Amino acid sequence: TKFAPMTNDIPDPQPVCNPITSSAIFIVATLTPGSDPTDKVRAWCADVAALTRSIGKRVPSGNLSCVCGFGSSAWDTLFGSPRPASLHPFREFAAEGRRAVATPGDILLHIRADQMDLCFELATHLLSSLGDAISVVDEVQGFRYFDMRSMIGFVDGSENPTDREAIDFTIIGDEDPSFAGGSYVLVQKYLHNMAAWNELSVEAQERIIGRKKLSNIELDESVKPTYSHSALTTIAKDGQEVKILRDNMPFGRPGAGEFGTYFIGYARSPEPIEQMLENMFIGRPPGNYDKLLDFSTAVTGSLFFVPSADLLEALADRKP
Ligand code: HEM
Repeated sequence: TKFAPMTNDIPDPQPVCNPITSSAIFIVATLTPGSDPTDKVRAWCADVAALTRSIGKRVPSGNLSCVCGFGSSAWDTLFGSPRPASLHPFREFAAEGRRAVATPGDILLHIRADQMDLCFELATHLLSSLGDAISVVDEVQGFRYFDMRSMIGFVDGSENPTDREAIDFTIIGDEDPSFAGGSYVLVQKYLHNMAAWNELSVEAQERIIGRKKLSNIELDESVKPTYSHSALTTIAKDGQEVKILRDNMPFGRPGAGEFGTYFIGYARSPEPIEQMLENMFIGRPPGNYDKLLDFSTAVTGSLFFVPSADLLEALADRKP
């Protein structure tokens, strides 16, 4: 059955490791209390893949995909036990003026494609079939800047694991057999003070990120500061580097002075992402924090569990 421990045969994941696209929509929603809304959301779980296929087939080269995740308390309300071993509410990290804030979020939709119209169409259908069973609390349309750059002008995603490594770092295996094929995803919406960032010299920006801005080449270890974003987000467990899979997107409204990065990170457990947040916000050692945060404010933060594709469909029939 779908819930039995699977040691050799991991169920198909949702498209967590799909390649980076040029457009994305991020939707975070909360669940309307009551039994009708929860019934509706459960039933909807069986439709997500079919809707994505129907719309995606219209433009095969558009790489449309959707990953759907559930927050800790929503999991209990919707599906009861068993629950994913490491699912918990978003953990805040704060020091001095910096804060990785936790904000409400029961359901995440991460919709990606190489055309915004595909993302838009899928978001419209997914949300209309959920109706008033949910309330959208945050919706961001992200785009890809020139040559894969982030809002702050540096190439983003270079150190992402690829292929087999991407799967190994993001997809749950034997450590939680009932949830094998699943993943954890953490999102944060950041707003940047671009005027202040742009006042820095390119060399100062490069020390903050830990890479060359134009060439994207990593700074040599002998000159890369320990406070650089790259140094603080490089972590190891038992002597082995632990990576996460990121698909950040710039977004904004120049007319409103809004310039942002939507951070999204997938991993096999929330732990490495939380370790990176701790290093960035509190510092490694404490006080040696990520100077990117002097120019960036986190305004949302939520953690979700992403069931395998098989489990997502099966959850439709699982009443707590
Ligand atoms: C690397 C941008 C937030 C984790 C990078 C790089 C850039 C960047 C430009 C270098 C290129 C690359 O390897 O992708 C940003 C921006 C952020 C942000 C604009 C929002 C303010 C975060 C957060 C985390 C994170 C919140 C983790 C919790 C990483 C990791 C790397 C990285 C793991 C690769 C480090 C390495 O192996 O060298 N980021 N990032 N980033 N970032 Fe971020």
